[in-house]
Amino acid sequence: MRNLRVDANRLWDSLMDMAKIGALPDGGCCRLALTDEDREGRDLFVAWARDAGCDVSVDRMGNIFARRPGRDDSLPPVVTGSHLDTQPHGGKFDGVYGVLAGLEVIRSLNDHGVETEAPIEVTVWTNEEGSRFAPSMVASGVFGGKFDLDDALAIEASDGKSIGAELARIGYAGDLPCGGRPFGAFFEAHIEQGPILEAEAKTIGVVTGAQAQRWFDVTLIGQDSHAGTTPMPMRKDAMFGLARIVSAIEDMVAEFAPEAVGTIGEVMVSPNSRNTVPGRVDFTIDIRHPEEAPLAEMHREVQALLEKVAEEYELELDARVVSHVPKIDFDPDCIDAVREAATELGLPAREILSGAGHDAMYIGNVAPVSMIFVPCEGGLSHNEAETATLEDLGAGCDVLMHAMLSRAGVADG
Ligand code: HGY
Ligand code: MN
Ligand code: MN
Repeated sequence: MRNLRVDANRLWDSLMDMAKIGALPDGGCCRLALTDEDREGRDLFVAWARDAGCDVSVDRMGNIFARRPGRDDSLPPVVTGSHLDTQPHGGKFDGVYGVLAGLEVIRSLNDHGVETEAPIEVTVWTNEEGSRFAPSMVASGVFGGKFDLDDALAIEASDGKSIGAELARIGYAGDLPCGGRPFGAFFEAHIEQGPILEAEAKTIGVVTGAQAQRWFDVTLIGQDSHAGTTPMPMRKDAMFGLARIVSAIEDMVAEFAPEAVGTIGEVMVSPNSRNTVPGRVDFTIDIRHPEEAPLAEMHREVQALLEKVAEEYELELDARVVSHVPKIDFDPDCIDAVREAATELGLPAREILSGAGHDAMYIGNVAPVSMIFVPCEGGLSHNEAETATLEDLGAGCDVLMHAMLSRAGVADG
């Protein structure tokens, strides 16, 4: 088995074919969760999985499971997978690589006539990004027992459409229960989305866990008024309040440098007219840190800041914690399986903590998990220019295959 390798060219071709769905002018992809583009990507994956001999099933959250039988189908499956939904200006590899690397493992096992002891499954988790529907990783979160199914199905996008209604509309409202099914292990392959592996010329990131993160939705309500006639002291200007908050959050994150990160990614201004003082802003805050205690302190400072600015600018404040993801430590045996596979394959590797959130984090509540990272150019992701090399993607897929085989076992010939 040690000499078994995947077909990196076939993996690359599948990535490029998938990237044609929701293709953007500057080379990226937009397949927001549960849109027609997401459905198209899902349909393509399902067709490929069936061509590879898999049975395909879908659960209540629209998670897709492509199953390759093992010699002993009573054993819990060894599973891999990731997500097909993208950011609005997403790249070709974020999430998609993990799904298609899993498919490539199955295609390669088929090519070489390898029968595993335990079944192998490749999953597509719904709405990992959390861009159209917040929070992120909501469907792997339901599977992992973090979120309630009905609450998750009721989550609405800004256009008022719910996850449940959109799943039905695109034909992925499955009838399988979401969760409650054992996995022997779960491995997720993903681009690093950061600069470390490339900077250190490492091909493989042996992912030990993921940093903690918290998401907030905030609304500030002041008063619409005339931009020309309203004296400054009389204004209740939600935008000036936001401006104060944005720069104060940048300063606060700097106090927790170099590990802390903070982002104000989404802002909606009302009425959004050049000559009306904005009476309302809705915005998001994303703060992250590798350790819980500093992040809890950052959370406290954010809350105090919001209250202080709201009072100063005479604004009503509504701040909601949308997502609270603790620091996650992955399973030591699965981490070892990844490290050993990289060593056996002679690939330069290093341990790494994920700065991004991934579905593996919540699956880790119900199964032993770890992840495999490969470098991406300049560490750039959530950007149309996101790219990685065929060689690195293939190497990561080889590590994935061997890590999975070490857990699934190979049936005697
Ligand atoms: O936000 C994240 O870390 C992931 O890309 N959803
Ligand atoms: Mn991702
Ligand atoms: Mn992402």
